[in-house]
Amino acid sequence: MAVEKTFVMVKPDGVQRGLVGEIVSRFEKKGLKLVGAKLMQVPQSLAEEHYAEHKERPFFKDLVSFITSSPVFAMVLEGDSAVSVARTLMGKTNPAESAPGTIRGDFGLTIGMNIIHGSDSTESAAREIKLWFNDESVAYDRAVDVWLA
Ligand code: PPS
Repeated sequence: MAVEKTFVMVKPDGVQRGLVGEIVSRFEKKGLKLVGAKLMQVPQSLAEEHYAEHKERPFFKDLVSFITSSPVFAMVLEGDSAVSVARTLMGKTNPAESAPGTIRGDFGLTIGMNIIHGSDSTESAAREIKLWFNDESVAYDRAVDVWLA
């Protein structure tokens, strides 16, 4: 297994509903290490660039409008297979199809407001961490890592 970094964002619905602490806690309890975090209002240009691959899709305008409507909580998480582990904890994109026990399965109802975004590949993670965190994260040791290896 390789140590990876992934980009995860609690979307406006998750922040407004007071789910940031619960969501961060789930990732931390799993063993992923928080190496970057910020609460921010997303500029239109950043939202459009982040979701650029979807710009021809019918929901693009609504998605950008939603992401810029209220603050998001952006994170960088690190750990073994962090990209796929974070996606597993999040559940399927459509909360109606997400398994109970996953973040979207437990807290979401519709695809338009699905609480959380996570990079879908190591390539996407590299692009998104550069875009949202200017490639910066905080390197530090955790004693607990001895018990997770
Ligand atoms: S995936 O996982 O990339 O294959 O999912 P996909 O279905 O392609 O969706 C990509 C992102 O678009 C969001 N989405 C929508 N937003 C608003 N309305 C509708 N109808 C809609 N359909 C999809 C979906 O939540 C994905 O956002 P992220 O932030 O990447 O999870």
